[in-house]
Amino acid sequence: MPKKRNNKDRYLQIIEAMGEGVLLISRKHRIALANSSAQAMLGWSGTIKGKRLEELFSGTELENHVDSVFKDGKKRTFRIMGYHDAIGEDAVLKGKGREKQYEFCITLLDEKYAVATFSDVTMLERLEMVRQDFVSNVSHELKTPLTAITGFAETLAEENLSEEERKGFARIIQKNAVHMQGIIKDLLLLTSLDRAEIAPMMERTTDTRILQDVKAYTQYKAQTKEIEVIYEPSDETILCNESLVVQALVNLVVNAISYSPENSKVTLRTKRKGEMLEFEVTDHGYGISEEDIPRIFERFYRVDKARSREDGGTGIGLSIVRHIAIIHKGTIKAESRLGEGSVFTLSLPVS
Ligand SMILES: Nc1ncnc2c1ncn2[C@@H]1O[C@H](COP(=O)(O)OP(=O)(O)OP(=O)(O)O)[C@@H](O)[C@H]1O
Ligand SMILES: [Mg+2]
Repeated sequence: MPKKRNNKDRYLQIIEAMGEGVLLISRKHRIALANSSAQAMLGWSGTIKGKRLEELFSGTELENHVDSVFKDGKKRTFRIMGYHDAIGEDAVLKGKGREKQYEFCITLLDEKYAVATFSDVTMLERLEMVRQDFVSNVSHELKTPLTAITGFAETLAEENLSEEERKGFARIIQKNAVHMQGIIKDLLLLTSLDRAEIAPMMERTTDTRILQDVKAYTQYKAQTKEIEVIYEPSDETILCNESLVVQALVNLVVNAISYSPENSKVTLRTKRKGEMLEFEVTDHGYGISEEDIPRIFERFYRVDKARSREDGGTGIGLSIVRHIAIIHKGTIKAESRLGEGSVFTLSLPVS
């Protein structure tokens, strides 16, 4: 007899130790047993044992699934949405908490009980969505230049074109191909930053050198819009990955130029603030509304799609800047007023 009791304790301990939530559910929807993972995942303050399913998962399909399992004895796997909050039951019952996705598997144990195991798949669902969005955005972005290339290549193949027309079409094809290359290069960089594949090589440099490079890469663009870019370095040394920081600042300066009217002014100045070096890009352009500011660092987000597209913009630039800030343990912040201009501040530790 005592041996048997030991075994039972052992099984209970094992169930208790499981990372998945485990519930023993009676035919009448009463919870006869719940392990601590179940308790934790549902955010319930009191004990779950003895509660009814309806109390824990109101308004979900769970009860129907349980009934079906009792009816035909077949195992069922499905996802349901629930609510979870630090305050627990209120949130669950009143649906006030954060939305959560749970994956359930229900198996019939005997005529009285069914066992439900479940895990929180909220993050997984979210990642799946991000991935789907990403793929469709990428295809969309590549489709536009590709359509232009195919179209103009077809026209080029026609015979009765003047030399002038031929050159013009070839130039458009080239421009679109370069644009596609740019998108692909940005995406590859983003992916490698995402995977933190680049533990960036840090080197000691000065902000003066960084600003010189930024100037070299953005000069042409500034000239075509007749925008004067003023550089004010403060000759501080900084330990960073120079080419990534240059790339981040190029993105900010190009944005400042793109989203400003012709003949306006853009400033890039650096300032030492304690252990941080701040790179501040100021423009007097179109500005960004308060609602849009938190979203502009998202991949593919563009406030004014038409205007950005005119410039060949994809909405990746700022998400690259954010990644570069993060891998340097720095920050990026934006302040702006519609119609007045914007200030982007990239703040990086000096060592
Ligand atoms: N200085 C700025 N002034 C006004 N709006 C800006 C500024 N910088 C960014 N934005 C807005 O934020 C959006 C996102 O910027 P982001 O640099 O990520 O993408 P993009 O410039 O559209 O394309 P690209 O991938 O070529 O950089 C832009 O489309 C624009 O609407
Ligand atoms: Mg940009």
